Amino acid sequence: MTEPRAPGTFVASNPPGPEVSDGLSDRRAVLEIRGLSIAYLPSGGEVRAVEDVNLVVAAGEVVGLAGESGSGKSTLAYGACRLLRPPAAITSGSVVYRGRRVGPDGVEVLAQSARQLRKLRWREIAIVFQSAMNCLNPVLKVRDQIVDAVDAHLAMSKGDMFERAANLIDLVGIPRDRLRSYPHELSGGMRQRVMIAMALAVDPEVIIMDEPTTALDVVVQREILQQIMALKEQLGFSILFITHDLSLVLELADRVAIMYAGRLVEVGRAQDIAHRPLHPYTQGLLSSFPSLHGQRRQLAGIPGSPPDLRNLMPGCPFAPRCAHANSKCATVSMDLVQFAKPGHTLHSSACPFVPAPEEAKLTTAADEGIAGR
Ligand SMILES: Nc1ncnc2c1ncn2[C@@H]1O[C@H](COP(=O)(O)OP(=O)(O)O)[C@@H](O)[C@H]1O
Ligand code: SF4
Ligand SMILES: [Mg+2]
Repeated sequence: MTEPRAPGTFVASNPPGPEVSDGLSDRRAVLEIRGLSIAYLPSGGEVRAVEDVNLVVAAGEVVGLAGESGSGKSTLAYGACRLLRPPAAITSGSVVYRGRRVGPDGVEVLAQSARQLRKLRWREIAIVFQSAMNCLNPVLKVRDQIVDAVDAHLAMSKGDMFERAANLIDLVGIPRDRLRSYPHELSGGMRQRVMIAMALAVDPEVIIMDEPTTALDVVVQREILQQIMALKEQLGFSILFITHDLSLVLELADRVAIMYAGRLVEVGRAQDIAHRPLHPYTQGLLSSFPSLHGQRRQLAGIPGSPPDLRNLMPGCPFAPRCAHANSKCATVSMDLVQFAKPGHTLHSSACPFVPAPEEAKLTTAADEGIAGR
């Protein structure tokens, strides 16, 4: 179990706007997701996979999105890039991209035409999917795939494109002679590096990585993650890093958002999430893996399994699994409430009962227009 915390206190929030003011920095926001809801509408009944999510990614920032399988992480990421197909439908919300190349007002991704979206994706927001083998073209050599990606977005001579492909493959640590290989001739780790090279091909400002190393063994996973972080330092892009593995994201991310049953239930700096988690679900996730530092402790895990998103009851969806559940949980709002402890930075949780309710003035972050910061 996590140790008891001092009660949190509500803090007055900053006015809404493109600056991120969570005490971490005042960096420019490059991706602002506001009130995003996404449902699958198959014949078996509506699945509310993402519900009223607010999340900001700042310039040069790594935001981790963690939660059990089926919590809606991929749906959120693909919905934000308009990559979902029916039966998925975006039912409300806004996604504003504010990269340097698109001007100070940004662009509303959800309002873009198909042609505008093709320009935006890859050039501005690139995605690295979990399974490289399914995303690479099996009948094209690595070099030709990278050149195709460059050719679609930049006006360059063939020679310059080949040179760029060679530089990219150097960047991700693959020998140049592998440019002539087909995907099936590469190891899983190399294929994933090729995907990362392709994501970097036209210098995007945001890279969304959806479980980019989950299929790889831990040694290769670690090497690739170190390389991603080194590239981020060198090239300055932002990352939305999605994983079911909270321990991984706590190592990598500046800020972490925890997702449960389609909702963000906690958002805060990685170190705050690691050392003073507010939401009982986050506490459960943390107690599911051993800590490398500190005292040995019993791994508790989380009893039960995530809810069926077709039949969500009102109130907190974590209630059937929560040791702190009380009668008010069946009607509680799932809006994030902001907390701060003296000496710590802004931290939001959707559970108003843990920590001590008497200290937390229950003005929601959503009321203030800044949830998810
Ligand atoms: N095509 C689909 N039709 C109906 N439900 C879907 C479909 N794809 C995903 N879902 C449901 O949406 C929820 C979120 O899925 P997903 O975004 O893949 O979660 P995660 O990435 O966190 O594992 C899950 O409950 C899943 O069953
Ligand atoms: S709202 Fe209730 S059930 Fe949900 S996390 Fe808080 S205490 Fe647990
Ligand atoms: Mg997923």
